[in-house]
Amino acid sequence: MTDPSSTSESHYFASNPPPPTLPQHTAQANAFVKHHHTHSRRVVLLTSGGTTVPLENQTVRFIDNFSAGTRGATSAEYFISQGYAVIFLHRQFSLLPFSRHYSHSTNCFLDFLSEWGRIGEGEDGEGEDGGEGNAGGAATPDVVVKAKYRREMLSVLRKYRKAKEQKLLLLLPFTTVTSYLFTLRAIACEMRCLGNEALFYLAAAVSDFFVPPDRMAEHKIQSGEVPDITTSTTAVGSAGGGKKLVIDLDPVPKFLKRLVEQWAPEAMIVSFKLETDPALLLKKCNQSLERYAHHLVIGNILATRKYEVLFVEEGSAQWVRLQTTTNASSSGGSSEEVEIESMIVPEVIKRHEKMLLKKAAASTAI
Ligand code: PMT
Repeated sequence: MTDPSSTSESHYFASNPPPPTLPQHTAQANAFVKHHHTHSRRVVLLTSGGTTVPLENQTVRFIDNFSAGTRGATSAEYFISQGYAVIFLHRQFSLLPFSRHYSHSTNCFLDFLSEWGRIGEGEDGEGEDGGEGNAGGAATPDVVVKAKYRREMLSVLRKYRKAKEQKLLLLLPFTTVTSYLFTLRAIACEMRCLGNEALFYLAAAVSDFFVPPDRMAEHKIQSGEVPDITTSTTAVGSAGGGKKLVIDLDPVPKFLKRLVEQWAPEAMIVSFKLETDPALLLKKCNQSLERYAHHLVIGNILATRKYEVLFVEEGSAQWVRLQTTTNASSSGGSSEEVEIESMIVPEVIKRHEKMLLKKAAASTAI
């Protein structure tokens, strides 16, 4: 008998257009995977950021899922430091590994810089640079990192350079849920040759509802053309004079099942689950494990996601918590503070290694 969910997934791919970037991203993933496979390096596909659901074909308005990309970008750095090559499938313009330290709006990179030799901004330590540069001369002054940020920035810079030189990071952007799903499927298929060495770390926040192409407006929805809903009690006397934009969304099929069963049957698959009600978290994580039969669900609560997460595997649930409630990503450059991803990623890798050992033992026993 045909699995109805499989029919809805096939229908989804058949009825939605693939993103124009798909051939290029697939080719990039293919070359990346081959390179690291040849060098016996493990590869993690890390998804990050929220997917959008456009309301118009020529998109002006869209529905978005919450995620700044902090979890994904931070985790990518820890995977790289542990020897993994990372395919970073991320929402365009969300946070990126390494540059995240200086690109966030609360951490503008310009605040870390000064002109060589410039004095008078003592609080930031520019005076320490001395006056030997060409400031004051006719030539354009050099731009330097303020003294108090140098150590931290040098450390980030060195890690970034190493990742680039060793080709450990492939950045592939998406925007819509459809482009995310097409690209996820394509990369998963490219990673099949890695077998158990492949890891999927699904931190992206993926839309559960979308507007199917046959109901999608081509042009910007005109507020003046939205029909009156005079029969609706809530519309009567509303500021819009009875006008309401009613959006009719279809469910996006759940693709995790397909990933586990068909696209990446040998890989280790880790998904994240975001909730806002703590009372629901464990239940929802267990539900996800039962439904998709993958390896690990990492649950987190919106308000506390930077300080604690819940690791849920078949038959066990374990909190991973930071000792303090300080958060490095909003610190402005202190290296003293601990990021929770520095605890999450080694825990995930430990489980990946356990799985590899188990598989190796099983294959030698045959
Ligand atoms: O980026 P930050 O600001 O740091 O935030 C990080 C985070 C809170 C977003 C992250 O830690 C997190 O929890 N990500 C998962 C959010 C979530 O619950 O997503 P979801 O409910 O859309 O998906 C849960 C799982 O189902 C995912 O593995 C997803 O791949 C899968 N899914 C979802 C929708 C769908 N149609 N098919 C799926 O298979």
